[in-house]
Amino acid sequence: MPPKLATLFLFLSVAAVVGVRLRAQPAAPPYKNPALPVDQRVEDLLARMTPPEKAGMLSGSGWMESQPNARLGIPAIKMADGPMGVRNWRGSSAVTNAASTVPVTATAFPAGIGMGASWDVELVTRAAGAIAQEVKALGRDMILGPTVNINRVPLWGRNFEGYGEDPYLSARMGVAYIRGVQAEGVIPSVKHFAANNAEYERHRIDESIDERTLHEIYFPAFKAAVQEAGVWAVMSAYNKVNGKWCAENPYLLKETLRKRWGFRGFVISDWGSTYSTDATINAGMDLEMPGGEAMRIWANKPETRRDGNGAGWLTADKVMAAVSAGGVTQAAVDDAVRRILRVMFTAGLFDRVHDPGGDVDTPEQRQIARRAANESIVLLKNSGALLPLSAGTTRKIAVIGPNAAVARTGGGGSSLVRPKYAVTPLDGIREAAGPKADIVHALGVVMEGEDAAKPPRELLEDAVAVAAHSDVAIVVVGNAPKIEGEGFDRKSMDLPAGQDELIETIAGANKNTIVVVAAGAPVSMTRWIGQVAAVVYAWYGGQEAGHAIGDVLFGAVNPSGKLPVTFPKALRDSPVYGHYPGANLHVQYAEGIYVGYRGFDKYNVEPLFPFGYGLSYTKFDYSRLKIAFPTVTVSVRNKGTRAGAEVVQLYLQPPPSRVDRPVKELKGFGRVMLQPGETKTVSFTLDKAAVSFYDSAVHDWVAEPGRFTVLVGASSRDIRAKAEFEFVR
Ligand code: BGC
Repeated sequence: MPPKLATLFLFLSVAAVVGVRLRAQPAAPPYKNPALPVDQRVEDLLARMTPPEKAGMLSGSGWMESQPNARLGIPAIKMADGPMGVRNWRGSSAVTNAASTVPVTATAFPAGIGMGASWDVELVTRAAGAIAQEVKALGRDMILGPTVNINRVPLWGRNFEGYGEDPYLSARMGVAYIRGVQAEGVIPSVKHFAANNAEYERHRIDESIDERTLHEIYFPAFKAAVQEAGVWAVMSAYNKVNGKWCAENPYLLKETLRKRWGFRGFVISDWGSTYSTDATINAGMDLEMPGGEAMRIWANKPETRRDGNGAGWLTADKVMAAVSAGGVTQAAVDDAVRRILRVMFTAGLFDRVHDPGGDVDTPEQRQIARRAANESIVLLKNSGALLPLSAGTTRKIAVIGPNAAVARTGGGGSSLVRPKYAVTPLDGIREAAGPKADIVHALGVVMEGEDAAKPPRELLEDAVAVAAHSDVAIVVVGNAPKIEGEGFDRKSMDLPAGQDELIETIAGANKNTIVVVAAGAPVSMTRWIGQVAAVVYAWYGGQEAGHAIGDVLFGAVNPSGKLPVTFPKALRDSPVYGHYPGANLHVQYAEGIYVGYRGFDKYNVEPLFPFGYGLSYTKFDYSRLKIAFPTVTVSVRNKGTRAGAEVVQLYLQPPPSRVDRPVKELKGFGRVMLQPGETKTVSFTLDKAAVSFYDSAVHDWVAEPGRFTVLVGASSRDIRAKAEFEFVR
């Protein structure tokens, strides 16, 4: 053999031997193989874990990290607060709000209530997808949202986070959000299960809620999250429901979530919502947060205890002790670990690491945030078609108010995102009005709780002076994170101090007064609604709110938002009035299923603005309502001269029943974009669930046969077409 060939032969032989050796090495364990089914990987890993390792997984390792395991290569689940963007993960709000903390910046999307007002399922999925991309770009794996709690009381400090008062709308929006997040391989956490409807004594309050009301009003968004979106994680709430804290409530977690709905993901506690070891694990609560040293430092602070937080109950030593003592079975611990691992494998956490350093606040994300803010805005009043203003002809514009030159992107608390920039209404109006407009600005009144540079009388006089000499006066009012936020409820529905007076005074000085409200819930308007020409409800619109307000005021965007919550004339008109906040740390949900428009309908109360209401710069005609159960179709025509979107709503009115049923309930909606003169058919699909009610006598949903009326309209009190159908089992 020539020497060259011999060398090659030798090389090949060595390579072959080495190759065989390599092949003979122990194969990677099955749980590390992405090609295997998730459940097989879970069981394989579970079988390799020691009891202490398993016990360690039931609580976090830090403020927002689950327990990693270096021996087995189990990563921590890295979480971040939400839902309207990536908030933070470096500690409690007290820590992350401190001036010394380097903020985490991310795109601020509109608050949940604004997304609810868009009634745009596709938009919610897109925004959630964008949020999830930022979660990954920041090196995290899980976002603590969506919030789907029902707006029961107008005063709830966190109304802005959820999607309003209706269980059907909340379910659609929650499902849309979860789908957007999970499609990115990010873990959502639908919260807070269940009935977290007030901040007042949120750690101690015991809510008595009857079974039917739970299933018809407070559960549907969670049920849909589990059964339609297949949600990977559910966060339990702080409060008690029917005598038991939510984190140790077997009716909620074991019976309803796991058994009845078939939930296969994990339940995560709210931060500081656990009060026991045995009862918590046995009820079906899988992961206690926060954990580790961060938890210990926080739990020992006097204010943490004062507020009623509970923590440190599912630490490894406590879980081990509980198993030894027989209060908890090893099988229950295994099941909690199994659920956490199942989600981690499903989300790809073992196979793809989310490294920090990716793009946040990209042009595409900004564009989604702006579209979302545009679609969230609800036009409540437009006398004499003052709006839209014309950029060419409206010369002198006064922009007044405590929310004009400040961007109120969100409400206060764990959901408040810190964006890289935020457009104020003043800047948005300036941009939309164009270079020819003369914009003058005055504060008018200082936001309650903030410092003023001038005495109140001078501020008001300045504002009147600019308003009196302008073509229009735009007064931007509303709340702020310290007035509406997590941890406290509003004391009244009124605007913060001085704002009603400001509006009245400006309206007296300029007949073209337009009020723009930035708030997360209804505010009282009866004092001035009759004196102003237009009212625009902008909610908390995220970082692009200012642009969106400018777009709507000047007609670049035709408003299409509809109220996801009833606006009462006064708080006493709310069906929940008198049943909040309860007494002696107990509240009876005595209004039962008659929350929101269900209550206004039943007691025949005229709201200021009904659920589903919102104006457009064009007009829509409804015709040809047809039912071929389960399909319902209706034609909608844009009879105006501007393109616009209409949110078509379908309500179902049940026949007389052996139980008391609401006058009508939302069971479908569709959002259609129509060019001038264009007609489109909107179709809805009803199902057995749509006609059913929850019968507490049999602990199940029941569909009674009978004649149902389909009501299709532009709001819950603006029904444009009716038709009946016979439901037979
Ligand atoms: C809130 C949750 C939040 C958690 C973590 C709690 O106070 O209720 O919504 O996700 O803190 O910040």
